[in-house]
Amino acid sequence: MLDGRRILLIISGGIAAYKSLELIRRLQDRGAAVRCVLTKGGAQFVTPLAVAALSGDKVYQELFSLTDEAEMGHIRLSREADLVVVAPATANIIAKMAAGIADDLASTALLATDKPVLIAPAMNTMMWLHAATQANLATLAARGILRIGPGAGDLACGEVGAGRMAEPMEILERIEALLGGGGPLTGRRAIVTSGPTHEAIDPVRYIANRSSGRQGHAIAAALARLGAEVTLVSGPVVLADPPGLQVVKVESAAQMLDAVQAALPAEILVCAAAVADWGVANRATEKRKKQAGAPPPTIELVPNPDILATLSQPGPARPRLVVGFAAETENLLDNAAAKLARKGCDWIVANDVSEGSGTFGGEANTVHVVTPGGIDSWPRMGKDEVADRLADRIASTFEGPLS
Ligand code: CTP
Repeated sequence: MLDGRRILLIISGGIAAYKSLELIRRLQDRGAAVRCVLTKGGAQFVTPLAVAALSGDKVYQELFSLTDEAEMGHIRLSREADLVVVAPATANIIAKMAAGIADDLASTALLATDKPVLIAPAMNTMMWLHAATQANLATLAARGILRIGPGAGDLACGEVGAGRMAEPMEILERIEALLGGGGPLTGRRAIVTSGPTHEAIDPVRYIANRSSGRQGHAIAAALARLGAEVTLVSGPVVLADPPGLQVVKVESAAQMLDAVQAALPAEILVCAAAVADWGVANRATEKRKKQAGAPPPTIELVPNPDILATLSQPGPARPRLVVGFAAETENLLDNAAAKLARKGCDWIVANDVSEGSGTFGGEANTVHVVTPGGIDSWPRMGKDEVADRLADRIASTFEGPLS
């Protein structure tokens, strides 16, 4: 399934490096060409000879090696690949990636690449949970760096907890989903809305909300990983465009509706955007000025089009599966069930956005998938994990009747 695909595998210094030898074998079994970069730390755990013998290619180790640079400069090395995989990705290399440090061949190639990057972190639990590591991971996620794992369990250091590198087979499956084009949603078109909308008051002021777009962007990326052809319609966010999908940038709710309609037909629509319910009726074309002694201006609001409700209406253009979100601060499940009926969509993903929930702008989410068939409550997890799980559930829906 990976015939002719080129993987640059960066092996950094963790005990899990031995699993990367297995990964090389598995990738080759599937027809991929694997080129390896071994960091100084990586070479403490696996030998260059073993990596070279398995990959059938020389191992690249030095940034300032005359022969390496003559044969294959670090820029070419980083670009002549369809995917860059860092496995194991230590806390150190993750920190270097986040900071943009380029002080060896691996970090330089990572800075120079224009290809998707997948990291498979592996480290001690305390290092994984450290605020510095988590902040670095958030930075990488915002830049569109893909991640698999780590899992939890017995660690080589003798402790138990999160930090165990994903198994080679799991990494292989992820790579196949990314490159193989054989994911369960291959051939299906999906539209995802994400982020807030901005409703202009005048040319310099607008009404907005706290949505970061993290959850919507993660869902778009997860659907693409499963092979869907995804159009992400995004309000103003500070996130990088996820790789491998089409991104349409809009500001207002009206523009978002237009962009969604222009992206049709699609079989899947996920409305994760926090669309402003109201636009400004008396929007000024010039900046509103303060007038001495005059009362503050009044902003008149008009209802915005409801994208989810509009696209849920029966008709030939209706996507086969329409998923909405319910951002609630109270009576979460009751409000979500009412919203499901009112909007006419197939599923509602309900999440608590009350103060203290940390959902808006945060990294994690606690969601309940509300369908006519019942409620599926998921434990609190990272937004990427919510996205993967939702994408998997969407994919399984397309294998059988809608539930
Ligand atoms: N939505 C939309 N267009 C709008 C408003 C909301 O597509 N103009 C979608 C959101 O993307 C989300 C769902 O509708 O999928 C629910 O949004 P939410 O703001 O939680 O609900 P509201 O419809 O605004 O209802 P309420 O204000 O009563 O909470």
